[in-house]
Amino acid sequence: MKIILTEDAEQAAEQVAAVILARLAAKPDLVLGLATGSTPIGVYRRLREAHARGEADFSRVRTFNLDEYLDLAPDHPQSYHHFMRVHLFEGVNVPAEHVRFPPSQGDGLLARCEAYELAIREAGGIDLQLLGIGRNGHIGFNEPTSSLASRTRIKTLTQRTLEDNARFYAPGEEQPVLASTMGIGTILDAREILLQAHGAKKASAVRAMVEGPVSAFFPASALQLHPRVTAFLDPDASRLLTLREYYGQAATYSRRLRTEGRL
Ligand code: PGA
Repeated sequence: MKIILTEDAEQAAEQVAAVILARLAAKPDLVLGLATGSTPIGVYRRLREAHARGEADFSRVRTFNLDEYLDLAPDHPQSYHHFMRVHLFEGVNVPAEHVRFPPSQGDGLLARCEAYELAIREAGGIDLQLLGIGRNGHIGFNEPTSSLASRTRIKTLTQRTLEDNARFYAPGEEQPVLASTMGIGTILDAREILLQAHGAKKASAVRAMVEGPVSAFFPASALQLHPRVTAFLDPDASRLLTLREYYGQAATYSRRLRTEGRL
């Protein structure tokens, strides 16, 4: 796993957006796996700004979101459909028919989860997957003990996740306990993964993801099995890493080789 120690969350967002824009310039029909939550908001803002400046054309891009709450209407303010519309889709030109989410309404959910997997394959697979990380190590809504080979399916959210997300709901408002999510196997199939973690409350999760054993009890640790993951960490999120200094040095040497055109 490549670790990038950034000065702050803004710099991380800048760097992640720059990678996405570079991949888009190289492949106009890029297939993006998209994340929600507070972490990617700064990245999406920069993508909207790049599009507004005429620097990024999303007309051939296809997107697959990681997850969605079961039974929240797409226009519900806490639904991830709504989140994506507000933070990204209203400000870029991804055609509506290129935007996909795992199923979250109605019946036949498992068959439609399989259809979601098929749609990803038919699009040629995900080129670039964005990720955040939950304090309990979840990626998407793959909660602890999710199979490391799991595919898109329905998951029950843990109490910890419900508490972490309670801030978005009014007191007394019903909070969804079920969600559909890409599996860990689905995520690991992406060709490249960019993960961001910001803030002290993510520090122990980041340590377990980067330096802990690979375990279904800590789903993000599965990313150690992927050949092309970059984790962008702000100082608070990286502060518990045992080899933090080493990661900084490694990034410096890798930058030097790249600048010299040797990679
Ligand atoms: P956050 O959530 O970006 O709101 O911190 C991340 C996650 O739970 O995956």
